[in-house]
Amino acid sequence: MLRFINDLPKVELHLHIEGSLEPELMFELAKRNHVDIPFNSPDEVKAAYQFTNLQSFLDIYYQGANVLITEEDFFDLTWAYLLRCQKDNVIHTEIFFDPQTHTGRGIAFETIIKGITKALTKAREELGISSQLIMCFLRHLSEEQAIETLKQALPYKKDIIGVGLDSSEDGHPPEKFARVFDMAKQEGFLAVAHAGEEGPAQNIIDAINMLHVQRIDHGVRCVEDPELVKNLIENRMPLTVCPLSNTKLKVFKEMKDHNVVSLLKQGLCVTINSDDPAYFGGYMTDNFVAVAEALPTTKEDLAQFTLNAIEASFISDTEKKRMTKQVLDFVANYA
Ligand code: HPA
Ligand code: ZN
Repeated sequence: MLRFINDLPKVELHLHIEGSLEPELMFELAKRNHVDIPFNSPDEVKAAYQFTNLQSFLDIYYQGANVLITEEDFFDLTWAYLLRCQKDNVIHTEIFFDPQTHTGRGIAFETIIKGITKALTKAREELGISSQLIMCFLRHLSEEQAIETLKQALPYKKDIIGVGLDSSEDGHPPEKFARVFDMAKQEGFLAVAHAGEEGPAQNIIDAINMLHVQRIDHGVRCVEDPELVKNLIENRMPLTVCPLSNTKLKVFKEMKDHNVVSLLKQGLCVTINSDDPAYFGGYMTDNFVAVAEALPTTKEDLAQFTLNAIEASFISDTEKKRMTKQVLDFVANYA
């Protein structure tokens, strides 16, 4: 099973590039940029990753991002993640970035986007990994700041497929961002939003009705509203679920309590993703393995997570067909 999971072609739809900053690279960049960090070694950083909820993680995650200053830093960060994709047989990835985490510290939007896109281009050419980029608004900041960020993104429209919404769900419901999502839609961006991670099922309903999203990120609390679950099934509304993230942030006590396999068997378009792999203890393969070890799954179930992710991705129908065939051939030929 482990070999099957490792070799299975995978598609990632929920990955914050800042959340792929490994402690070792954090240290290297802190040194290179003369940035003070309150740790003496990468091991000390790792020891600090004891989270009780989403906010306790976000505080450390934003602090870690302070070492990212130059275009080269954003390139190195993204390239390191893409090399992990290659190792895990990730064939396509749709990456979130949080511009406000950096522009708020005086880093130019151009610096961020150039560093990231250079790595994405190199991965397309040298690793055969395709990708899209999704710009997230930080929901703890104001609507006005989100609108300003959208304006900064307009010159880079060709590099950014959609907008998203992340950070503290509690106290910052989807309706706060209805207008900026409308503006983004008018500019041609697709839309996704984190909802129903720590927040209630109503946030999922509001993200669909007020933000007109194509996918829900997390969404695991949908089960609290059976009518919503029925709608998600009927409309094939994708949920980008992050199993290791959910157990690390105590959304579920243990992996055996996680609902991702149950949702799959009910016919929801659920996918498996790594969210912030450097902070939550694992990349794509690790997440698949954690699910398969704790919950009853067949090889077909695991392959279905990839097939769902292909269906839910922001790539052309031709590319979807090609990747679907790649997965089905892999399963058929697996001995
Ligand atoms: N939820 C909300 N905000 C985030 C997350 C998440 O899982 N990861 C990075 N920012
Ligand atoms: Zn996330």
